[in-house]
Amino acid sequence: MYKIGTTLTQFIIEEQRLHTQATGRFTGLLNDITTACKKIAALTSKGALVDVLGAAGSENVQGEEQKKMDIISNDVFIEALENNGHVAAMASEEMETVYHLPAGAPRGNYLVTFDPLDGSSNMDVNVSVGTIFSILKAPPGINNPTAADFMQPGTHQIAAGYCLYGPSAIMVLTTGHGVNMFTLDRECGEFILTRQNVQIPPDTGEFAINTSNQRHWEAPVRRYIDECLQGREGPRGRDFNMRWVASMVAEVHRILTRGGIFLYPMDAKTGASGKTGKLRLMYEANPMSLIVEQAGGVSTTGRERILDIKPQDLHQRVPVILGSRNEVERVDSYHRGD
Ligand code: AHG
Ligand code: MN
Ligand code: MN
Repeated sequence: MYKIGTTLTQFIIEEQRLHTQATGRFTGLLNDITTACKKIAALTSKGALVDVLGAAGSENVQGEEQKKMDIISNDVFIEALENNGHVAAMASEEMETVYHLPAGAPRGNYLVTFDPLDGSSNMDVNVSVGTIFSILKAPPGINNPTAADFMQPGTHQIAAGYCLYGPSAIMVLTTGHGVNMFTLDRECGEFILTRQNVQIPPDTGEFAINTSNQRHWEAPVRRYIDECLQGREGPRGRDFNMRWVASMVAEVHRILTRGGIFLYPMDAKTGASGKTGKLRLMYEANPMSLIVEQAGGVSTTGRERILDIKPQDLHQRVPVILGSRNEVERVDSYHRGD
């Protein structure tokens, strides 16, 4: 147990002491990620004052319109990590292929994947956005990793986290030993431990799904949401509440705070996402699934545990159903036809 008020820097150093073989490289990497998030927090909070709102006039590899802040956040992350000597290579939503370090840069053995700005369509309307990151180890002996070296299941993640830029900026981190939350004190420039060993309540009366896609859902998801909507008069015998922020970071944060279930199921709506769902495995679904499981929740596609998926592609999409254990298991059971 740590004292509430411990800084994230102190926390990371203390955690390092628990691992006798630790070299400090992982600690250094987390510190650099923290610095990148502080810079993004500063930019998002200044908004129009520093001309970061609006479209960049380009598209990413997935054919989505890039916002100025998507590109700026991506650059901030790369700049913070490419010369620290802890990273072997990086991959991000905003880059088509693996980002290789500059020729002379010192190399480490961590692979970092990130969604530099999640929920970026919310940026211009001043609603919460965030950064999501996942850390893997590069296979031994690999000096210049390729995409194939990133194709590790989510269970191999060394750490995962997100930083939510909302009314407060909050860093949420797991290194596989529970989930802790740190709130940015903008006056002293430090993330301060404000909640430790977060646990998601197993039951919930709150669901999050974009119902405009209802006609594209599969039967198990239709059934689950139909039953929630029937409320007290339906088979569940209780009323449910609904939320949809359209920033996964904000939805997961709400679920970590008061429980809930989040669904972005198979969606036959667009050619790009086909029947695979919208969210990306390597930098959205995997890190969030590790956090949710570490907080006692469940994360699944409806057919399998997300963390067990063997990735095929850096930008692969997957259906995501995560949150309070008993509700997610109910949706899973509907997929099995129970
Ligand atoms: P991003 O801004 O990184 O592309 O991610 C947006 C994602 C996710 O955060 C959110 O849950 C979902 O897209 C919202 O999708 P809809 O606009 O289809 O509701
Ligand atoms: Mn995203
Ligand atoms: Mn994004």
